[in-house]
Amino acid sequence: MHQDSIHQRNILSSEEVQSLRRQFPIVKNKVFMNHAAFSPPCRAVKEAYDRRLHEWENMDVHRWSSEAAEAKKLFSKLINCTADEIAFTPNTSTGISSIATALPYRRGSNVVVTDLEYPAVTYTWLALQRKGSLETRFVKNRGGRIDPSDVDLSNPQFIRKESE
Ligand SMILES: Cc1ncc(COP(=O)(O)O)c(C=O)c1O
Repeated sequence: MHQDSIHQRNILSSEEVQSLRRQFPIVKNKVFMNHAAFSPPCRAVKEAYDRRLHEWENMDVHRWSSEAAEAKKLFSKLINCTADEIAFTPNTSTGISSIATALPYRRGSNVVVTDLEYPAVTYTWLALQRKGSLETRFVKNRGGRIDPSDVDLSNPQFIRKESE
């Protein structure tokens, strides 16, 4: 979105937009559209990495666990849960895989995903299907979009097969 249109909609002031842009040096030369697996870190993240490496190099690591606890507390406020519901994982796929493989599945269980899902996420469910733990059922996209009415979980095709 162009910064003027953000400003016009009163979401952020142009000073705030400029301040956010300064956090991402890449935007001086490029328009970066893919904030997924590989995205440019903002200055604050890079500085935190540099600080951690410096502390690690000097074995000055005694604050790490209290800072991790503080990070959980702050993030829990952001997503409105409790700090003990937050866990650190190396990345999204590992986190989903850890949870998916730890859950108990009753006979006839299925999981509903879309056919536009990121492959690393879908592979976890397909691996559990191959082991016989569950069945993976896909909501098909239409023209590159998922229609919310197609994700109606009361649809018989998504309901667990109790009798099997
Ligand atoms: C939509 C989406 N979901 C999940 C993932 C997996 O994330 P990670 O690389 O953190 O495992 C990605 C990665 O690019 C993604 O784009």
